[in-house]
Amino acid sequence: MLNLKLWQSKPRHVPLDQRAQNPPAMAPRPLLRIVALNTKGGCGKTTLCTNLAGYYASHGYRTALLDADIQGSSLQWLRNRGDKPAAIAAIDGAQRSGRVTRSFQVRAPHATERLIVDTPAALDSFSLKEFTRDADAILIPVLPSAIDIHAVSRCIADLLLVGRVAQHAERVAIVANRVKKHTLIYEKLQHFLQGLNIAFITSLRDTQNYVHAAETGLGIHELIAHKNRQDLRDWDPLIQWLEARPRAASAHGLPEVVSQTAGNHMEG
Ligand SMILES: Nc1ncnc2c1ncn2[C@@H]1O[C@H](COP(=O)(O)OP(=O)(O)O)[C@@H](O)[C@H]1O
Ligand SMILES: [Mg+2]
Repeated sequence: MLNLKLWQSKPRHVPLDQRAQNPPAMAPRPLLRIVALNTKGGCGKTTLCTNLAGYYASHGYRTALLDADIQGSSLQWLRNRGDKPAAIAAIDGAQRSGRVTRSFQVRAPHATERLIVDTPAALDSFSLKEFTRDADAILIPVLPSAIDIHAVSRCIADLLLVGRVAQHAERVAIVANRVKKHTLIYEKLQHFLQGLNIAFITSLRDTQNYVHAAETGLGIHELIAHKNRQDLRDWDPLIQWLEARPRAASAHGLPEVVSQTAGNHMEG
């Protein structure tokens, strides 16, 4: 069982004469639900999710990370994170129990502002719809390789048709991952992505900074900045694109219940 600090800090004893001076707690910002998805494994879904979670948590957002992959790599990252200051709520979305439906499991803690959803590679059409239905942003990481370019075409077709995202394709964006600039295959990938009717937002370098961050339970924005300035710049267009997303109607209301599954992982 995970033992993670929640972003909800424990009540602190405040002397009576100071209480009136304390400003009221800031109202939560509207929930933004971000889903990383690609039916190909190893392309960077978990890397996207953990780094986004690290970014938002370290920038003061109430952040939850839902891991729907039975492999649990995002949850493992949260375990590696331990007691680091910017806490992230963990939700195990891969668990099934007879009593709790999947939709109940995917509820975020009350007042979550940024919910990041990591998905498994093998997604049936039911799960594809389930994960994308209420998403404000769907991110597809893709590697510069012939096999991955082929696979992502298939994934996008499934997403648009089976996932019925076609009418809302502006919610979908592609992130090229593990790129080595000035290589022929990266040029090919860029050419392919620019020919799609889907936003191609940014390219992330192939660098050990991500491997190091993953091992220590940090996001790249939480590492010492001078070592990875270029990598930080790569994330700027993605954060800007995410923050410009209009919220899906059904995601506007903040979920009122901490799910039973989530509660198992969020003891302070
Ligand atoms: N930009 C990157 N640079 C270097 N290594 C990366 C990068 N992105 C991902 N990786 C590594 O590639 C492997 C697969 O990435 P991961 O995010 O787990 O993919 P997925 O979740 O799609 O299966 C991991 O070991 C991860 O650390
Ligand atoms: Mg993964």
